[in-house]
Amino acid sequence: MKVTIRDVARRAGVGVATVSRVLNGSGYVKAETRERVLAAAAELGYVPSQLARGLVGGLSGTVGLVIPDITNPFFPLITRGVEDAASEAGYTVFLCNTDNDPGLEAHDVQKLRERRVDGVIFVGTTERRESVDRLLADGIPVVVMDRQLNHADVDTVLVDNLAGARAACRHLIGLGHRRIAHAAGHRSTRTGQDRCQGYREALEEAGIAFDPACVAWGDFTYESGYRVCQVLLGLTPRPTAIFAGNDLIALGAIRAAEDAGLAVPDDLSVVGFDDIQMAALVRPGLTTVRQPAREMGRMAMTMLLQRIRGEAAGPGRRHVYQPELIVRGTTRRREPHA
Ligand code: RIB
Repeated sequence: MKVTIRDVARRAGVGVATVSRVLNGSGYVKAETRERVLAAAAELGYVPSQLARGLVGGLSGTVGLVIPDITNPFFPLITRGVEDAASEAGYTVFLCNTDNDPGLEAHDVQKLRERRVDGVIFVGTTERRESVDRLLADGIPVVVMDRQLNHADVDTVLVDNLAGARAACRHLIGLGHRRIAHAAGHRSTRTGQDRCQGYREALEEAGIAFDPACVAWGDFTYESGYRVCQVLLGLTPRPTAIFAGNDLIALGAIRAAEDAGLAVPDDLSVVGFDDIQMAALVRPGLTTVRQPAREMGRMAMTMLLQRIRGEAAGPGRRHVYQPELIVRGTTRRREPHA
């Protein structure tokens, strides 16, 4: 026979709510009562299931993390930060990889609602807010990460993508580059759009005319970086530098350049965005814009816990990190003849 919380309460001579308070470590219980409850639970061999334990207090002890692409090394770093803070708080994380597919994303969100998660950290594939609205309508708090939904009710954690893109392009301009192309990320994301806007602003402040042919949109993958850079490197005059929408695009760009017989950085300078581990491991090391991904994941989980526990209320809060330019070997001064 399965031992239930009621059996423990009966054995200890207390109510079910008291047993729940003792086992969840919440609320005041007299030391003597606590000991009696713990002794009763031990004698009966009572093991509370996480779900049952949480549901007594209306909580499941689980949160959802929705990400667009687990194969992008940026997202395991985010996940690690979320997981660090979640496990410290006794929470379990359900990970959903949407493969950048809005249909799969809607399906995953539905599954999380059915599982009655206590909150969701959400990195959307687009800027559409339907999924987030559904969660909020269920009373499930949401923290949006790495994207912006312009949603008044939702907490957001991200880097200043405009500033990061401007820093990357100012670096290239400072090295004498004037023909700079942008191998952009996903056009359907504000993240991709802001990085493109930052690129344009840096050109403008340096008095460099914007050439729309110098922007090619991909989808934040290595393959798209390779593909769009084949196009960009076919332009006349050929760009001497590429600002990539993220590090995977940058790595694809470098491979496309090498396959076209160009050397990086001698013939082409390349800057990425993210500073994934690989950026420091490849040779030459990738110049990039660092996002503190693990720290951002931890922050998102911390903000979510505050909402779950009722420690934060009211309109959505924004935590915006300042990105940092990391100069390595893929950028160099443009030769006067180039
Ligand atoms: O979604 C892909 C990209 O957005 C990541 O590589 C990272 O740059 C993030 O901000």
